[in-house]
Amino acid sequence: MKKYLLLFFIGALVSAQNKTLDQKVDSVLALMTLDEKVGQLVQYSAGWDTGTRTRKPKEGHEELIKRGQIGSFLNIVGAEQTKRLQRIAVEESRLGIPLIFGLDVIHGYKTTFPIPLAEACSWNPELVELSARMQAIETSAAGVHWTFSPMVDIARDPRWGRIMEGSGEDPYLGSVMAAARVKGYQGKNLSDINSILACAKHFAGYGAVEGGKDYNTVDISERTLREIHLPPFKAAVEAGVGSLMSAFNEIGGVPSSANKLLLTQILRNEWNSDAFVLTDWNTIGEFLVHGIAHDLKEAAKIAIEASVDMDMESNGYHYHLAELVKEGKVDVKYIDNAVRRILKAKFKLGLFDDPYKYCNPQREAEVTLNEELRKAAKQVALESVVLLKNENNLLPLDKNIKSIALIGELAASKDDPLGPWSQQGTPETVVSILEGLKNKVGDRIKINYAEGCKVRGNDKSGFAEAVEAVKKSDVAIVVIGETRDMSGEAHSRATLDLPGVQEELIKEIDKTGKPVIAILMNGRPLTINWVSENIPAIIESWYLGCEHGNAVADILFGDFVPSGKLTVTFPKGVGQIPLYYNHKNTGRPYNPENPRFTSYYIDFSLEPLYPFGYGLSYTTFEYSNLKLKTDKVNASDTLRFSVDVANTGKYEAQEIVQVYVRDLVGSVTRPVKELKDFKKINLKPGETKTVEFELPVERLKFFDINMNYVLEPGKFKLMVGPNSKDLMETEFELIQ
Ligand code: NOJ
Repeated sequence: MKKYLLLFFIGALVSAQNKTLDQKVDSVLALMTLDEKVGQLVQYSAGWDTGTRTRKPKEGHEELIKRGQIGSFLNIVGAEQTKRLQRIAVEESRLGIPLIFGLDVIHGYKTTFPIPLAEACSWNPELVELSARMQAIETSAAGVHWTFSPMVDIARDPRWGRIMEGSGEDPYLGSVMAAARVKGYQGKNLSDINSILACAKHFAGYGAVEGGKDYNTVDISERTLREIHLPPFKAAVEAGVGSLMSAFNEIGGVPSSANKLLLTQILRNEWNSDAFVLTDWNTIGEFLVHGIAHDLKEAAKIAIEASVDMDMESNGYHYHLAELVKEGKVDVKYIDNAVRRILKAKFKLGLFDDPYKYCNPQREAEVTLNEELRKAAKQVALESVVLLKNENNLLPLDKNIKSIALIGELAASKDDPLGPWSQQGTPETVVSILEGLKNKVGDRIKINYAEGCKVRGNDKSGFAEAVEAVKKSDVAIVVIGETRDMSGEAHSRATLDLPGVQEELIKEIDKTGKPVIAILMNGRPLTINWVSENIPAIIESWYLGCEHGNAVADILFGDFVPSGKLTVTFPKGVGQIPLYYNHKNTGRPYNPENPRFTSYYIDFSLEPLYPFGYGLSYTTFEYSNLKLKTDKVNASDTLRFSVDVANTGKYEAQEIVQVYVRDLVGSVTRPVKELKDFKKINLKPGETKTVEFELPVERLKFFDINMNYVLEPGKFKLMVGPNSKDLMETEFELIQ
C-alpha cells in the first residue's frame, strides 16, 4: 500500500468516534508488521545520556524513525526539536505512528521546585498536586509528553542518595503523595494540552538497597515488599498512572525487569493495571551483569515474558525481539500486549489526533519560567521548610535589628538550591539565600556575608573573615549542608556528618557569643548532633528550587510561619541505620531499667536525633480531649474520633495533626505504630479547633500469616499528636 494511502487509512481508523479505545488500538495493531510492533517498544536517548551507554542502535535515530523502529525518545526537549523528530515519524514512516517523548522532570523543568522529599514535608497533598500540575504545564509546552516521575520509593536509609527524590519513609504518606503527583501531572484529562503522562518508579523495592549503596542488592520479605514498598505504587495505579518504570535492583535474586511476581502477578493480575512498563536505563542489558542471562537475546526474552513493555536503551528489544518471535522462542502475544499498552497511552494523550499538539514554540515561550510558575514554586517552598529547633524563640528575627552576618558557601550559592535533578533549571533563575535576604531587608539591615569555608575540603583560611563578620553583626546565620551533587542517583554516602570543616566553622562562630541560626541545605538527613545540641535555632531548608532564598527570608522574618514536618527520621549516627518510626517491637524491646538481654547498642543511643513527623512552629500547640465516637467498630465502619488542638502561642499558624495506630495482637507481628491519617489545619492565636477524623477501618488491613490481605478483629491502640513520638492514646476494638 502506498504510504499516503495508509496514513489516510489510519487517520480514518483512529478518529472513528464510535470506536472504543481498545478497538482503535487493535485497528492500528492489525496494520503493523512485526518489526513495526517491536519498534513501538524501543526507547533511545536523543540527547544527553542519563546512564552508561554500552551499545549503539543499529542505525541513526532518523533512519530508525523512518522505518518505524522506534516508539519513544528520552532526553530531548523544546517544541522545535521534538517537532522535528515527530514530523519524521508522522510523515516519513509507513504508518505515521507518533513518537512519545519522555524526560526526568522530577522537581521542575525550567522553573525548579523543591525536591520531592522537601515537598512531602509540607504534608499538603493539594500543594504537591499543584506543584506537579505546574511542572506539567511547563514541560508540555516544551514538547515533552511524559515525565519519569513520581519517584515513589520508600527509603529508610539516608545514606541512599536518592532518598531526596521520594516522599520519605512512610507508606501511607508516600501513597498520598504518589496519588497527588499523578493527578497533578496527568490533570483532569490526559488529552488536555498541558497534561503529561506520569511514571511511577522505580518498581520496586529500590529504596531498600543494602547499606544504602545505590544500585545494590535488595533482599526483603514479600510482606515488607507488599506492606512498605508497594502501597505508593498501588496508590499511583489507582490514581490512573499511565506508566511505571522497572527498577535496577533485584529482590531475592530476581532483577526487577525480570520479576514476574511484580510485573505480571501484582501489576497486571492483582491491580488490574494496563499502564505500560518502561525499564530503567539498560536494565535488560544489566541482566548479563547480574548473571541471569547469557546474552542480550536471552535477556530480551526474559524481560518481554515478564511483562516489560518498553526497553530504555539496552538494545535488547531492538536487536532481538523480532528474531525471537520468528524462531518461535517468544510468543507474539507478549509483543502485541506491550504494543497495545503503549499505543493506548499515545491515544490517551491525544497524539493520534494531533501529534504536534505539544510542539508550539509560541506557547513554549509564553509558559516557560512565567510568573505563575514562580509563584507556585515559592508557595510550595514555604511549606516544605521544617523548623528543627528554636530555643528562646530566637526566630523569627526582629525586623529592627541592624545587621546580620550570613556565612557559608551555600548561603550565596545560586546553583545548589536547584537540587540534584535540576533538569533545565539554571543558576540565573535561582534566588540564593543571600539574595533572598537582600530582597527582604533592602538597605534597612546590613548583611555581612563571608564564605567561611567550602562545603568540601579542609581549608580553614576563611574562618577569620567569617568570625569578624559575625563579631560586627547582631546575629549570625550559618548555612551548612551538602552541595547538590552530594545526593541523588549514584551519590550514596557512608557517613552523614556535615562534609568538610563546616562543623568546625560553626563552632568558631558560636564562640563569638552572638546568637546563631543554622540553616541546613541538603538532600538527606544528616547527623548534625553538635549543631543540634549547641545552636539555638535550626531550619531544615532542603533544596527549595528557584525561590529558595525568598522562601527562607520570609521564614526568618516571620512573614511565613514554618509548618513542615519531617517525613524521614534523622538518626544520631550511621550505626543506627535503618532507623524508622514504624519498626517492630521484637521479643525483647529495650528495657532502660534492665537493658541486659534486651535489644539495644552498648555504645550508642537508640533515639533518633529528630523523629518522623517532627517539626516546630513559631507558635505552640496543645493537644487535648482525644475522644472516640465509639470504641467498637466493624469491618465496614469508619472509626470516628476527634482531638482538640489549641494554638497557645502568638502566631497564626498551620499544624499537622497525625494519627497512628497499633494493632496489638495479630497473626503476624505488627509495627509499634503506623501512620493512618493526618490533617493540616490553620489556627489563629488563642483559637482551639476540634479536629474530626473518619478513618476507614479498611485502612487497618495487612497481610496475615497466609499472605491474605485482611482485617483481623482485636484491639488497637489509637495515637494522635504533633509527631510520631509525642502522642496521646486510647484504645478501640475491631469486632467481627
Ligand atoms: C536512571 C534513573 O534511575 C531513572 O530514575 C531515570 O528516569 C532514568 N535514568 C532516565 O534518565
